[in-house]
Amino acid sequence: MIIVTGGSGKVGRAAVKHLMERGYDIASIDQARPAGLSNPPKPTDVNFTRADITDFGQVMAAFSGINGRVEKPVTGIVHLGAIASPGEAPDHEIFEVNTISTYNVFEAARRLGIRNVVWASSETLYGVPYQEGPAYVPVDEEITEPQWSYSLSKLMGEKMAEQFARWDKAAKIIGLRFSNVQEEKDYANFPSYQADAKTRHFNLWTYIDARDAAQAIRLALESKVTGAHVFGIANSNSVMTRGNDALLDEVFPGTPRKHKLLPNESLISIEKAKRVLGYRPEYDWKP
Ligand SMILES: NC(=O)c1ccc[n+]([C@@H]2O[C@H](COP(=O)([O-])OP(=O)(O)OC[C@H]3O[C@@H](n4cnc5c(N)ncnc54)[C@H](O)[C@@H]3O)[C@@H](O)[C@H]2O)c1
Repeated sequence: MIIVTGGSGKVGRAAVKHLMERGYDIASIDQARPAGLSNPPKPTDVNFTRADITDFGQVMAAFSGINGRVEKPVTGIVHLGAIASPGEAPDHEIFEVNTISTYNVFEAARRLGIRNVVWASSETLYGVPYQEGPAYVPVDEEITEPQWSYSLSKLMGEKMAEQFARWDKAAKIIGLRFSNVQEEKDYANFPSYQADAKTRHFNLWTYIDARDAAQAIRLALESKVTGAHVFGIANSNSVMTRGNDALLDEVFPGTPRKHKLLPNESLISIEKAKRVLGYRPEYDWKP
């Protein structure tokens, strides 16, 4: 059994669906009920338990048996529950909720011997939102420049992961630095981005389809690596029709290129995720 925290959210819904379609037994824990859950649940519904992951006791209880409704041992955790963007709460609360809940998840997993943890870090660790340009493009996992309390909470997660992985050398804790997550219905907005290079420059015109985020989560769960690792996760292309060189020259002139850019390649590097996890984005905003 795999437990997904935040399974009712945007990424969580896609991850739960994708993993269940691939035959995984999933239990979702979230403060919010998943939309469309029947009462009593149908056999095809996700096994859902309401829990507050800022409370260590609730996380321990959830990971060790989900109220006795789950008999199989928990073999992996997908941790997506969070206050998912700046502005959703005062900064100090975002920092507190995200940092404490990630600690609770890592610590409960360690105490219960669950050595397979995948969690959501964020593109904001690349310095998003950019006021000035990045140090170079495509940005990669070498860059860690949080600009917000939200991003600082994600950096705390990455730092904690390194230490938890040092305490248990057999553990795997993979942080996925997702780009801005899009569902299929969001693609209707994309044509409105094309005229103005400064509509989506904040994250270098990148995006991640929630279904590809789910693919990356599954590949991270299935990966045989040990230790703490982070991966940039975006789609292959940008949200724009105009080429990268023209966009950079207009908005962030002089930005060094790590290689000759393809016209619409993602300026968040997904090279490491492709190489190590076998990640291959399958969805594209272009019809
Ligand atoms: N959406 C994006 O563009 C984006 C980009 C990069 C990273 N991320 C990260 O990906 C993860 C998922 O994001 P999302 O877009 O699905 O967000 P979302 O807001 O749609 O979902 C987050 C879920 O977490 C749950 N949650 C919040 N606090 C909780 C608590 N204390 N206890 C239990 N559940 C709680 C919420 O009820 C919600 O269902 C988050 O960690 C977010 O920071 C998101």
